[in-house]
Amino acid sequence: MVVNIFTLLLLLPLAVVSADQDAFVGVNIGTALSDMPNPTQVAILLKSQQIRHVRLYDSDPAMLFALSGTGIQVVVTIPNQQLLAVGQSNATAANWVSKNILPYISGGTNISAVSVGSEVLTTVPNAAAVLVPAMRNIHSAVAAAGLDSRIKVSTVHSSAVILDSFPPSQAFFNRTWEPVMTQVLEFLRSTGSYLMLNVYPYYDYVRSNGAIPLDYALFRPLPPEKEAVDANTLLRYSNVFDAVVDAAYFAMLYLNYTNIPVVVTESGWPSKGDASEPDATLDNANAYNSNLIRHVLNNTGTPKHPGVAISTYIYELYNEDLRSGVESEKNWGLFDGNGRPVYVLNLIDSGAVLTNDTGGEKYCVAKADADKKMLQAALDWACGPGKVNCSVMLQGEACYQPDTVAAHATYAFDAYYHRMAMADGTCDFNGVATVTTTDPSRDGCTFPGSDGSGSNGTIINGTTSLAPSSNSTTSGSSLPFDSISFVKLVGVLLSSVAFL
Ligand SMILES: *[C@@H]1O[C@H](CO)[C@@H](O)[C@H](O)[C@H]1NC(C)=O
Ligand SMILES: *[C@@H]1O[C@H](CO)[C@@H](O)[C@H](O)[C@H]1NC(C)=O
Ligand SMILES: *[C@@H]1O[C@H](CO)[C@@H](O)[C@H](O)[C@H]1NC(C)=O
Ligand SMILES: *[C@@H]1O[C@H](CO)[C@@H](O)[C@H](O)[C@H]1NC(C)=O
Ligand SMILES: *[C@@H]1O[C@H](CO)[C@@H](O)[C@H](O)[C@H]1NC(C)=O
Ligand SMILES: *[C@@H]1O[C@H](CO)[C@@H](O)[C@H](O)[C@H]1NC(C)=O
Ligand SMILES: *[C@@H]1O[C@H](CO)[C@@H](O)[C@H](O)[C@H]1NC(C)=O
Ligand SMILES: *[C@@H]1O[C@H](CO)[C@@H](O)[C@H](O)[C@H]1NC(C)=O
Ligand SMILES: *[C@@H]1O[C@H](CO)[C@@H](O)[C@H](O)[C@H]1NC(C)=O
Ligand SMILES: *[C@@H]1O[C@H](CO)[C@@H](O)[C@H](O)[C@H]1NC(C)=O
Repeated sequence: MVVNIFTLLLLLPLAVVSADQDAFVGVNIGTALSDMPNPTQVAILLKSQQIRHVRLYDSDPAMLFALSGTGIQVVVTIPNQQLLAVGQSNATAANWVSKNILPYISGGTNISAVSVGSEVLTTVPNAAAVLVPAMRNIHSAVAAAGLDSRIKVSTVHSSAVILDSFPPSQAFFNRTWEPVMTQVLEFLRSTGSYLMLNVYPYYDYVRSNGAIPLDYALFRPLPPEKEAVDANTLLRYSNVFDAVVDAAYFAMLYLNYTNIPVVVTESGWPSKGDASEPDATLDNANAYNSNLIRHVLNNTGTPKHPGVAISTYIYELYNEDLRSGVESEKNWGLFDGNGRPVYVLNLIDSGAVLTNDTGGEKYCVAKADADKKMLQAALDWACGPGKVNCSVMLQGEACYQPDTVAAHATYAFDAYYHRMAMADGTCDFNGVATVTTTDPSRDGCTFPGSDGSGSNGTIINGTTSLAPSSNSTTSGSSLPFDSISFVKLVGVLLSSVAFL
């Protein structure tokens, strides 16, 4: 019964189970950062972390270009402000699709779904009447382009549209929205799409005033007598996430819809809060997201539908320092704007926390036999679009001597490599760079990494990989994708201009 959109979303090439039964974990990419990384850097981070699924809050052209050819599946969003226009006019909807979808599909960006608005019923209730017409219009346009089997059309709901969610068997959609929800579900059923739901055990826990134990929200093991039992179904709930997802299944069932899969479009936990938010901590965020990832990738399903994949997008990739509101609002991210992890996720089934990199320092240097022209081009890129601060190589500065392309390129490559958290593939520069453990620092010119500052960012090795961390591959074999070459990405960006 799982939607066929998940076909081909193999997390790992050697996975045995048929792909359409495997849940995946993706991330949301919010962009309210004062130092928002450029789309190329975002794509590099995603690849280094083996993140194959992302959700955008818009359809940003530069981001969609940067994701092309990466194999990453993308959910794009029609912002709520555009709902009215899209819902009222078939032509506007068709125009939206031809401008925001079609060029990127032909350019090799894997757009897998469109969310028509986001939390519309709870945030812009006045637009409720155009929601389903907008979804239909977008679907018509997608179908007209022959893409309806590949691109699903749905809309993201806040779980606040579901009332009385415990016990889950009694949950129902807020009666105010029953007519709209019925139309939404009919649309999802008839188009083979899925229910997009935001699930926030953090808020359920905080608002419960102690009624919900923290461990229950964090997926921590509970003694059997503490597990919540739904008296109607006798299903046992060991975490809030499952209870909310089952509440959605039951609310759909109440309207007689039984075969619509659920995808969790947002879930997470803040790592920092102000004085009134004592449970927004690094440890809790780490526990929640680590346990969530394990739970999802294990294809555990929920008590109502065991084994049915609940693919989930973590909220969110970056801490968004520009968001307003309480401190926690700015601290839901897995990474800061420099691509440094806020905490190191614990994804080893044994429960061992992977500590800081212990593998010795690594440096990125120019290859000895590299072509000079290519080195120069890579140096220019690193000091330009790559945003390396190359001022130390100016005449009279610490790293000016020796004044050779190779020496300067080595400094720039190494600086870039460390800023990218030494992620796989970020020391390639079209083949002219290579990783070494020999510190290239010279008198007065200290290379990035040499002071140990780089060890912080190293969380590759599967520690925050959103692919299964257990034994689905043989002997730590190669990644499913070629390691990324920035030149390839730049090439994509440049060639993309052709169909702008
Ligand atoms: C995009 O995803 C589809 C499956 O949805 C797959 O067949 C195709 O190879 C992917 N394309 C790229 C460029 O990754
Ligand atoms: C919108 O366009 C689709 C085809 O693209 C068509 O099937 C549908 O009837 C149209 N709806 C309206 C209201 O014009
Ligand atoms: C149901 O939705 C209506 C309209 O948004 C809202 O006013 C009402 O408070 C909701 N009911 C509950 C119990 O949340
Ligand atoms: C669901 O189906 C039952 C049994 O067929 C019927 O009695 C009920 O009215 C239906 N509910 C809705 C909301 O259609
Ligand atoms: C993984 O799934 C199996 C059943 O499919 C279940 O027994 C086990 O507890 C799950 N593990 C986790 C970590 O969720
Ligand atoms: C790094 O190691 C130190 C010392 O073992 C430890 O205190 C710290 O929490 C570790 N940091 C991370 C991110 O694991
Ligand atoms: C580059 O580094 C120099 C010192 O090394 C510093 O003065 C300058 O502000 C930096 N430039 C930028 C844009 O960060
Ligand atoms: C990690 O990076 C942060 C921010 O740059 C820094 O304050 C901290 O000292 C670093 N920790 C280690 C162990 O390098
Ligand atoms: C990281 O991966 C390398 C090579 O695959 C391996 O030698 C090293 O032990 C790993 N480190 C950790 C912390 O798993
Ligand atoms: C591989 O996974 C299975 C099922 O999750 C587990 O029973 C087994 O111990 C794992 N093997 C290794 C080597 O981790």
